[in-house]
Amino acid sequence: MRISVIGCGYLGAVHAASMAKLGHEVVAVDVDPVKIERLAAGDAPFFEPGLPEILSEAIESGRIRFTTDMSEVAGARVHFVAVGTPQGPTGAADLTYVDAAVAALTQYVAADEFVVGKSTVPVGTAARLATSLSAAVPGATLVWNPEFLREGFAVQDTISPDRLVYGVPSGAAGESAVAALDEVYATTLAEGTPRLVVDLATAELVKVSANAFLATKISFINAMAEIAEVVGADVTALADAIGHDARIGRKFLNAGLGFGGGCLPKDIRAFQARATELGVGESLAFLADVDAINLRRRAHVVTLAEDLLGGDVTGKHVAVLGLAFKPNSDDVRDSPSLDITARLHELGAVVSAYDPEANGTAARIHPEVHYVDSADEALRGADLVLVLTEWNEFRQLDPAVVAGLVGRPVVVDGRNCLDRDAWTAAGFTVRGMGR
Ligand code: UGA
Repeated sequence: MRISVIGCGYLGAVHAASMAKLGHEVVAVDVDPVKIERLAAGDAPFFEPGLPEILSEAIESGRIRFTTDMSEVAGARVHFVAVGTPQGPTGAADLTYVDAAVAALTQYVAADEFVVGKSTVPVGTAARLATSLSAAVPGATLVWNPEFLREGFAVQDTISPDRLVYGVPSGAAGESAVAALDEVYATTLAEGTPRLVVDLATAELVKVSANAFLATKISFINAMAEIAEVVGADVTALADAIGHDARIGRKFLNAGLGFGGGCLPKDIRAFQARATELGVGESLAFLADVDAINLRRRAHVVTLAEDLLGGDVTGKHVAVLGLAFKPNSDDVRDSPSLDITARLHELGAVVSAYDPEANGTAARIHPEVHYVDSADEALRGADLVLVLTEWNEFRQLDPAVVAGLVGRPVVVDGRNCLDRDAWTAAGFTVRGMGR
């Protein structure tokens, strides 16, 4: 099928390459000529395992084209909108890019074609866009098909997601939309992926409520960590024990520095803002606590670092291992690790920070921090070691070797990812999160 994808950021670039992988003929559009040039040359503009491979394959097969010229979408049957919806100044989502993408698209979309939203939007956006699309192009249909990909597993989550959700209008238009999307996802559906057909508002809500639930789960366990820290209990053992209850489940119960990234933090704020606009702000009032618990984890680690350095970090050497908001990513948007690093630097600590992939992205936001090219370099002579992102490289560090590099054997395990006994045996004072 001929498909267009508008927006070549995280979501769009992965979606476009994945659609080509599924055998479709794809034209991918972005307003940023530098990004388009890189993608056209097979160079992924961010670190995502598996993306370079499917991108090169798509380019070699001739099934994908990158352009800044919106008119090239003409002739595609399904047009995916995958632009960003960043947090605006009030916390509400900024819909500038979505509105602009749909407005630009309407000039080239024909009757019987489908505009399919993938961006995360406040509930009610799709209905509004559907009205403007049908006014501009009678016979074209607007559909919402939210995306649930996780960074680090984006390709796998796009090609083999755990479910497909189609938000469609009622009647014949909705039926044709389902048929068109079934054709897009034929390979995925053949694998037995569950597919849920719902109305537009439900589809928008599925996305934001899924992220709100995940954020709540993480903040719940971090609230337990706060209590465990006071009473000397172990939150990891607690998570293991409650996680055995299938109704609770062990996933997303890892206490640590809390959630960051380009999705969960902004999505819970935008969801609250939208609920308030709709007059049901009370329903989501708890998300303010979820956000507050999450942000307290960062403050907690800064305080812990101060305590472990005798009350004052000024002039003390701090080795930071990990800057990305999670492993297997170079994304530092709202990263707890980078936030803590920048605060310690600001407080006067002499920070040496290292991330296997995110030094460059971190330096763009916090150029004042000193970044180094290896864990060893960061660790040399350190008064305190902070492990802030659970990359395998850090999990696998040999504590005996690290003990020989640092000035003082003290480590904060911000992600509870180290073998506490091995580090203790190597002479380290180990401080975990909620343990
Ligand atoms: C999240 C959702 O998991 C995806 O389903 C969704 O599609 C995506 O947002 C989106 O809206 O686009 P992502 O931002 O890639 O995906 O990251 P997650 O894997 O959800 O992790 C988010 C943060 O939570 C990370 O900082 C991670 O370290 C933290 N986290 C996760 C914890 O602190 N504890 C956990 O147990 C799990």
